[in-house]
Amino acid sequence: MKIEPIIKGVVARSAHPAGCEQAIKNQIALVSHSKAIVQGPKRVLILGGSSGFGLASRIALTFGGAKADTIAVSYERGPSEKGVGSAGWYNNIYFKQQADAVGSKAINIIGDAFSDDVRQQVINTIQQEFDGKVDLIVYSLATGVRPKPNSDEMWHSAIKPIGETLKGASVSFEDDSWHESELPSATEQEIIDTQKVMGGEDWESWVDFLINHNAVAPHCQTIAFSYIGPKCTHAIYHQGTLGRAKVDLHQTSHALNLKLAAFDGGAYACVCKALVTKASVFIPTFAPYVLALYQSMKEQGLHETCIEQMQRLFNSKLYPSPIVDGERLIRMDDWELKPSVQQQVEQILPILNEANFKQLGDYQGFKAEFMQLNGFDIEGVDYDQEYTLEELKSLTP
Ligand code: NAI
Repeated sequence: MKIEPIIKGVVARSAHPAGCEQAIKNQIALVSHSKAIVQGPKRVLILGGSSGFGLASRIALTFGGAKADTIAVSYERGPSEKGVGSAGWYNNIYFKQQADAVGSKAINIIGDAFSDDVRQQVINTIQQEFDGKVDLIVYSLATGVRPKPNSDEMWHSAIKPIGETLKGASVSFEDDSWHESELPSATEQEIIDTQKVMGGEDWESWVDFLINHNAVAPHCQTIAFSYIGPKCTHAIYHQGTLGRAKVDLHQTSHALNLKLAAFDGGAYACVCKALVTKASVFIPTFAPYVLALYQSMKEQGLHETCIEQMQRLFNSKLYPSPIVDGERLIRMDDWELKPSVQQQVEQILPILNEANFKQLGDYQGFKAEFMQLNGFDIEGVDYDQEYTLEELKSLTP
């Protein structure tokens, strides 16, 4: 069979193995030629390491100067009679192949990061492969649900404004269409539940778990990713349920910083740029803002994707020593929030509509990044290649 893109709304139901492999190679080439990470960590645990910021961290830390060994936890689907599997599945496979080739350890643990079983697998692997300790813990899970401990129930996140109803638009990659909708204010329960899913509680419980198992090395750091965004998005993000959850994440970074001080280490929330990832395209009203942002940042030569953000984070802002703002946040959104960028966004965003979003915003770039996340539309890949299910199943992460 040939592998074709199957897109439903903003979800990719197929992924191209050779495209994912090429995307990994392209990112490795990029960080290999970038300013190197100095005094970086050697043994890294990445929770959510198969795509987006987590995968980019993994590539940057292994190939961008630190030569780190990595354990990555992710929740991905392999090939079966139902489909070819997810992009993250193939990213795990091809990252490992590349790391093996340069003698770096890359261990993939695929399962639910909220489960006791996965925690135990992580500890066993740290003991067997990392002499029992980690130097950096990257928390990069993105999910809409989190199981309640010792229960069959789940918390569900709801990205909504608080105290007001908002009008907004989203796009569908399936037929390149624009959809206007209204977002009602979140209920109190939705605010609490979103914080449970996207706040700092699970990050803290992972770090506590590692401390309790003596798995934290001297000078160990931990980071998690946050978003603040410009004023024009505050009603939906910063002042909405997402923002409340991220404030909780920031507070957790301070609590964890105190705990890791006992190891001469630290904990930081890194505020990143808005970017197209598997998780972010689900966020209501994200598309119009990103269309305007990409247009502006590309015109001004400031656009970065996940890999460029992570290489800059590790080579300039976390190592050799952390650079933080007045609230002890690491600001990777510094270029996004430049006045020149936001002035242009403010000109484009209010006039974007169904008729002009492909011309005034960077729809082409936005969609291309989405397709490339799933291994499609990548230069140099033979999309006529035939695969069998057996062949795909024989690739193991
Ligand atoms: P992503 O969807 O690309 O990656 C999420 C990762 O989490 C994947 O590796 C996935 O397999 C893993 N995962 C999800 N549920 C899991 C589970 N139950 N068990 C194990 N692994 C699981 O997401 P992205 O965008 O890289 O998000 C990472 C963090 O960055 C999130 O906290 C997000 O809020 C934050 N962020 C994202 C921005 C964006 O524009 N994409 C901007 C600023 C922050």
